[in-house]
Amino acid sequence: MGNCLDSSAKVDTAQSSHATSGSAVSKLSSKTSRSSGPSSLTIQTFSETSNASSLPTPRSEGEILSSPNLKPFTFNELKNATRNFRPDSLLGEGGFGYVFKGWIDENTFSAAKPGSGMVVAVKKLKSEGFQGHKEWLTEVNYLGQLHHPNLVKLIGYCLEGENRLLVYEFMPKGSLENHLFRRGPQPLSWAIRIKVATGAARGLCFLHEAKSQVIYRDFKASNILLDAEFNSKLSDFGLAKAGPTGDRTHVSTQVMGTHGYAAPEYVATGRLTAKSDVYSFGVVLLELLSGRRAVDKSKVGIEQNLVDWAKPYLGDKRKLFRIMDTKLEGQYPQKGAYTAATLALQCLSTEAKVRPKMAEVLATLEQLENSKNAGRTSQSEQHTGAPVRKSPMRPHNSPRNLTPGASPLPSYRQSPRVR
Ligand SMILES: Nc1ncnc2c1ncn2[C@@H]1O[C@H](COP(=O)(O)OP(=O)(O)OP(=O)(O)O)[C@@H](O)[C@H]1O
Ligand SMILES: [Mg+2]
Repeated sequence: MGNCLDSSAKVDTAQSSHATSGSAVSKLSSKTSRSSGPSSLTIQTFSETSNASSLPTPRSEGEILSSPNLKPFTFNELKNATRNFRPDSLLGEGGFGYVFKGWIDENTFSAAKPGSGMVVAVKKLKSEGFQGHKEWLTEVNYLGQLHHPNLVKLIGYCLEGENRLLVYEFMPKGSLENHLFRRGPQPLSWAIRIKVATGAARGLCFLHEAKSQVIYRDFKASNILLDAEFNSKLSDFGLAKAGPTGDRTHVSTQVMGTHGYAAPEYVATGRLTAKSDVYSFGVVLLELLSGRRAVDKSKVGIEQNLVDWAKPYLGDKRKLFRIMDTKLEGQYPQKGAYTAATLALQCLSTEAKVRPKMAEVLATLEQLENSKNAGRTSQSEQHTGAPVRKSPMRPHNSPRNLTPGASPLPSYRQSPRVR
């Protein structure tokens, strides 16, 4: 079974006074709410009582924001760190807002001169209102407590008036989405693809196997960030949710996530389980194999939906090459590709129960990563029988490193998320 825990993984439980009101931090006023949500926000995230290895019970906004692991920044500090959010510091854009590159002093965390000190990524919330604030706070809540080499590190935040920002460790290679679907970066080799999948599986596994299970709910290529060595880290915990406890089999929620990645039973019923994340993992694995987006409206018919299109090929050794990314130029071990494709197929099972657990997924990927053929492609193993096809992927033409949503779903914040 894969080992999701790493010696450096931990859950912080230091701050848990359980105060529910009277927080020093400003509460959201109901006039800014888009929904009929409460005017003061207490995130009902963790349902187990606090002990040495579980996350604390629901915490007030004040408790969340007073995490000793997080630095509260002023807006001015982040303005200076990003050179006034200059367009040339822009790293990307998502549904939540824009992400800028910034520099801070390693010791004092105050703004530093560009090029000196520590590089950070500063995410600036663009939408106002209850939902935006809720997701922002959920992210601070989880990333303020969960620490693992495969989760992006949150350094601090800023909450000042309407301004909501998050400061993360900078991930020099950006998102997996950029590498798979954008023109520009070198195509990822087979070995790197397996490395990325393994790292991301380890991150999800850590969340699922935590004493108080966390369901990530937004697993997709744009939320997998890569460091200089292509180690992957999960980012964006705004939709994360505590898993079911006691005898419960699922948590019932408003359906949120991203079209193309969200598990069909969850979209249909709102019943969320860790197996919903496993489905999304299967979609990303398929993206890694095929180099195609989960949803691509520029394609015609069944090819618009990657899962629908690719599923029939995954269990067939002889046909698998038809869905493999042509950017790999046949440089992958056939056996390894078949193992990964079979794994993707299992993750994508329509019936959630038969999907493997993330620990099992991780174990298979680790084997694949460590197998003697990983990364190398012997002449005999390499796929040669396939006619050379043109890349199946019409490149997404973004000259800048911007990241538009993976799906064209309209929403009030132009997010690809399901709402
Ligand atoms: N810590 C980081 N280091 C480097 N680049 C980052 C970092 N965080 C985000 N980015 C870049 O900014 C882009 C936008 O990220 P963001 O999380 O806001 O949106 P998204 O994941 O693309 O979409 P969505 O809002 O639907 O999740 C990412 O795709 C990535 O390229
Ligand atoms: Mg993201």
